[in-house]
Amino acid sequence: MIRQSTASDFEQIYEIINNGAQAYKGLIPSEYWKEPYMSRDELRGELDGGISMWVYEEDGELVGVMGIQHRKNVTLIRHAYVCISRQHQGIGGKLLSHLRELTADPILIATWSNALWAVQFYEKHGFRLLSREEGNLLQRKYWSSPEVKIYASVVLADEKWFDFQKRESKI
Ligand SMILES: CC(C)(COP(=O)(O)OP(=O)(O)OC[C@H]1O[C@@H](n2cnc3c(N)ncnc32)[C@H](O)[C@@H]1OP(=O)(O)O)[C@@H](O)C(=O)NCCC(=O)NCCS
Repeated sequence: MIRQSTASDFEQIYEIINNGAQAYKGLIPSEYWKEPYMSRDELRGELDGGISMWVYEEDGELVGVMGIQHRKNVTLIRHAYVCISRQHQGIGGKLLSHLRELTADPILIATWSNALWAVQFYEKHGFRLLSREEGNLLQRKYWSSPEVKIYASVVLADEKWFDFQKRESKI
């Protein structure tokens, strides 16, 4: 079952993020890697900052989480994690498809450039990788990431983003 998270899911969301994020160990800039990858305070800050988390629940247990955040004229997909033992079984795909139904805005996603599996995952769902230059500009505009993270990340966009860009360039 996919549903919006409630306050009582906080601890399980925290566990899934930090379990799923083990994939980043040794891959992302060392100054950015820490354990836990995301502290409870950071997670609370993200939720308070307007990220709405959705969860995939199975037999009363959460196994995957994915966030959505509306920013200006776009929607960002944030913090997509499936617990290690359940990755590659279609759960992330179902969460992504569900979240895409919730917005009519163009969707952007930033992920670590070395997380090739994540890039492939989004490409499989029709997202396209933007140039490094455009990705960096968009991260400065829509995310509040530090520069070290921006340089080590890429941005992918859905079809609506490219349609939006075409319309903007005609104005
Ligand atoms: C990225 C993630 C959310 C995808 O969720 P998922 O449930 O594992 O993905 P799905 O099973 O729906 O989709 C599978 C596709 O994703 C990619 N993928 C997911 N896990 C993979 C893995 N371990 N190795 C290789 N490809 C993988 C592949 O493209 C795969 O397609 P395929 O089955 O044709 O090879 C999940 O793997 C995860 O939590 N990864 C670690 C954290 C992360 O990278 N998050 C993204 C942050 S933006």
